[in-house]
Amino acid sequence: MIYLDHHATTPVDARVLEAMLPFFTEKFGNAASRQHRFGWDANDAVERARKQVAALIGAGSKDVVFTSGATEANNLAIKGAARARTDRDHLVTIATEHTAVLDPIARLEKDGWRVTVLPVTRDGLVDVGVVARAITERTALVSVMAANNEIGVLQPLKEVAAAAHAKGAWVHTDAVQAAGKVPFNVDEVNVDFASVSAHKVYGPKGVGALYVRRKRVAIAAEIDGGGHERGMRSGTLNVPGIVGLGAAAEIARQEMPAEATRSAQLRDRLLDRLRAATDGVTVNGSLDARLPGNLNVSFDGIDGEALLVGLDDIAVSSGAACTQAEPSHVLIALGHSKARALASLRFGIGRQTTAADIDHAASKVADVVTRLRRLAPVG
Ligand SMILES: Cc1ncc(COP(=O)(O)O)c(C=O)c1O
Repeated sequence: MIYLDHHATTPVDARVLEAMLPFFTEKFGNAASRQHRFGWDANDAVERARKQVAALIGAGSKDVVFTSGATEANNLAIKGAARARTDRDHLVTIATEHTAVLDPIARLEKDGWRVTVLPVTRDGLVDVGVVARAITERTALVSVMAANNEIGVLQPLKEVAAAAHAKGAWVHTDAVQAAGKVPFNVDEVNVDFASVSAHKVYGPKGVGALYVRRKRVAIAAEIDGGGHERGMRSGTLNVPGIVGLGAAAEIARQEMPAEATRSAQLRDRLLDRLRAATDGVTVNGSLDARLPGNLNVSFDGIDGEALLVGLDDIAVSSGAACTQAEPSHVLIALGHSKARALASLRFGIGRQTTAADIDHAASKVADVVTRLRRLAPVG
């Protein structure tokens, strides 16, 4: 099997695993135990990881809150900000967000918040003028992702943040797919919250972090207990997982420039080969403002489900990992029909992907597309 689904998850890097292992066995202390060496060692490891995560996103380490992943980080930022800002009643987001942003916002809407979900243009990018017009003095939070998990497009975050701050709104970004893949710096884009997840950058599943710009914002906790993580997220820290997130962040930071160039070359090679081998290939989302390792394409005249079934030795997906039976809400937001959205593939290129993998995938996809068009044409 060739794995080309690195937006869904990534394997744990051997160096990350090695860093984590002692914290399951001999260094098993509770990071909150203040009275002995076991606790001190665990706490030192957590604080080191906090610095590593902070360095990846250009943050101060005291502003990094560890969570169980980005879903929790998004919930903490969105619900925590909403609960903290009792003087405001409006939230703004965009239609192509991950469900880990859309669903907490939908929950708040049920609780009485006014919500504006903004459209994107045909290339998947938000129009900053449209965002600026949607934000008012009543807007508590604007949540716009850094990079999309399906079509890889990079949103104009800095401009979005400026428009939000001009009206006193706070800004959250789901940076899960951007951090570690492209330069992402919380000060440069000037966001107040940013969510990251270890398993998208060759770290373990079930651990992530929320950046909170504590000089400017203060949020209510979602989970109360021992007051861990400066009161923002109680619960005994997942020390091995946090060590893994830190190691993964450190490696991603160091290897990003070379890896971004390499994966962009492989992505371009994939597109060239697909186009050479078959016609009716459309790229979904801007090719310019895009993650280097992402390609999302639609194929004219085929049934999407039959395409995926035909790709028996390639792990790709037709959308986000969590919502495969339905057409992607992201592709629908680009203006695609249901059939076209279903006849799309998301390729996620990763560290282990080789040129040979790309060549095999391109010829396999082209063969299956050609066969389906002959045997079972659609549209
Ligand atoms: C953009 C985006 N946000 C949030 C998540 C959820 O992250 P986690 O699996 O750490 O909860 C994912 C991945 O599933 C994602 O791609």
